[in-house]
Amino acid sequence: MKITEQLGSALGATVEDFDHTRASGADIEALKHLVYTKKIAVLKGQNLTPRQFLDLGRRLGRPETYYEPMYHHPELREIFVSSNVPENGRQIGVPKTGKFWHADYQFMPDPFGITLIHPQVVPQKNRGTYFIDMGRAYLKLPGDLRKQVAGTYCRHSVRKYFKIRPHDVYRPLSEIIEEVERKTPAVRQPTTFTHPLTGETVLYISEGFTVGIEDADGKPLGDDLLHRLFEATGQLDDTFEHDNIHLQGFARGDLLIWDNRSLIHRARHTATPEPTVSHRVTVHDERKLHDGIPAA
Ligand SMILES: [Fe+2]
Repeated sequence: MKITEQLGSALGATVEDFDHTRASGADIEALKHLVYTKKIAVLKGQNLTPRQFLDLGRRLGRPETYYEPMYHHPELREIFVSSNVPENGRQIGVPKTGKFWHADYQFMPDPFGITLIHPQVVPQKNRGTYFIDMGRAYLKLPGDLRKQVAGTYCRHSVRKYFKIRPHDVYRPLSEIIEEVERKTPAVRQPTTFTHPLTGETVLYISEGFTVGIEDADGKPLGDDLLHRLFEATGQLDDTFEHDNIHLQGFARGDLLIWDNRSLIHRARHTATPEPTVSHRVTVHDERKLHDGIPAA
C-alpha cells in the first residue's frame, strides 16, 4: 500500500497498491487514519465487483443498509446505487442523487462515520464531487458566529429532498409528507461536536438537511442564524468558487473513501445530463458519529 498525500493542508490523499483481500489489520488502521486526517482517500486501480466492493467496505466497519429500498443494488442491498443508466430497460437505483449540500444520513439518529463510493460509469465532462471540510470551516467562522453557535443544537430532516418513490404516484402529497415525518422525524444534534478520532470541532450543518437551530432548551434561534452559517461556510455559493469548496475528481477504477463526520458533499451540477453510475457503501467504524450519541 503506497500513500501519497497532497501537499500542505490540502484535502485528499491517493492510495496505490491496496488489496483489501491481503491488507493487514495495520494497513486497515493506516487507511482509516488517512481518511480521518486527510478526509478523502482515493484508492487507485480498484476494479471491483459489487461483492468485492462490499467486502472492502466490511474491512472498515459495519455496513449500514439504506432505509429506502428503491436505492438498493438488486443483489446486494447494502450497496446504494445512484444511476441514470437503465439496465435492460429497467431503472436500477435512483438517478440525480445528492445535488445539495449534505452529510450522509445526517437526518438519522445514528449516522455512520465513513462513506465509500465506487464510480461505475464516469461522466466525460462534469466529473467530480464537491466537498467542504466543516472542521476547517468552523475554524474560519467569524468569532461572533462561533460564539453564537456555542451550546446550540440543530434539527436535521430529509423532508426537503425526500424522493418520491414509484409507488407514491397517485398518493396525496399530505399522506406522503405525513409518512416521511412519522418514519424519519427530524433529529436533534449539537451544532458542533468533537470528532471522536481527531479531536477537531466539527460544525455539523448542511443546507440540504439542516432545518432549524435552537438553544439548549429547544427555543428556536431563527432562520437568519442558519442562513449566515450556510453563507459563511460556502454552501450558498452557486459558482462553487468559495475557498472552502474542494472539487474531488475521479476516474474509472478509483474508489473514494471519505470522513462523513467532517465532510459535507454535493453532486456536481450538469447542464446536460451524462450517463453516471456509482455504487456506495457506508460503514460504522468503532465509534459513534460523536460521543453524545448513545451506544446501541
Ligand atoms: Fe451523499
